[in-house]
Amino acid sequence: MAENIDEMRKIPCHVAIIMDGNGRWAKARNKERAFGHRAGSENVIKVVEAACDLGIKYITLYAFSTENWKRPQSEKKALFSLLNEFYKKEIKRLIKNNILIKHIGDISLFPKKTQDIIAAAEAETLVKCSDPIITVILALNYGSFDELRRGLISFSHDIKNNILDIDNINNETIFNYLDTKDVPSPDLLIRTSGECRLSNFLLLQIAYSELYFTNTLWPDFSKEEFSKSITSYMKRDRRYGGIDL
Ligand code: IPE
Ligand code: IPE
Ligand code: MG
Repeated sequence: MAENIDEMRKIPCHVAIIMDGNGRWAKARNKERAFGHRAGSENVIKVVEAACDLGIKYITLYAFSTENWKRPQSEKKALFSLLNEFYKKEIKRLIKNNILIKHIGDISLFPKKTQDIIAAAEAETLVKCSDPIITVILALNYGSFDELRRGLISFSHDIKNNILDIDNINNETIFNYLDTKDVPSPDLLIRTSGECRLSNFLLLQIAYSELYFTNTLWPDFSKEEFSKSITSYMKRDRRYGGIDL
């Protein structure tokens, strides 16, 4: 895809994905929604591998939103158990391939067992993948408004304790209070399943991201289609409010 240095420069550094459509994928097969979530979870590794091959440095995947608590208990249970399985099963492979795994969002509301599994996996990759080839960020119980709420609480605390000077606040200061503080903003946001909305995902961080919407349901979103979305991104002209000279 990227044949020379100029082309390489156009590869997005950070891609974020709203992995949507697992339920409809299962329904089309007369199966339970959990069946679709399993297929979706299996697709994660394939797309991460494709991102790695393309030289993408960060990939953020929306796995559970702050609004997904509205789903039936049985579906949430299936999602947590898939998360446990994903972290336990894939951790060796991630480490072997020098892939760092992190999360954004507030996992303190997840079952204790899931929190522990996530913490252990993250600690292990942090130690073993000191110079990662790619960082995979799972958005777990994530929502932009909740991220802002938590950020504002710690921002107010820092103002109160004179850690921050109210006369010296810039855009970077604000970004430092978001869950994504150590990560560059996404260059490209992909949403599968035909929905053209953002569903409370990274609303500030995607202020200047390129958007790619596809009708493909997440379990069917292949390496090839991922590459297609990257090619589409590489053809775009990002002007950030300026003009081409
Ligand atoms: C996305 O697939 C996965 C999660 C939100 C956890 P959905 O479960 O939203 O699938 P659809 O949109 O109902 O098809
Ligand atoms: C967004 O999908 C959240 C995730 C993919 C985790 P939803 O299916 O929850 O979004 P809405 O409800 O269609 O907006
Ligand atoms: Mg959905």
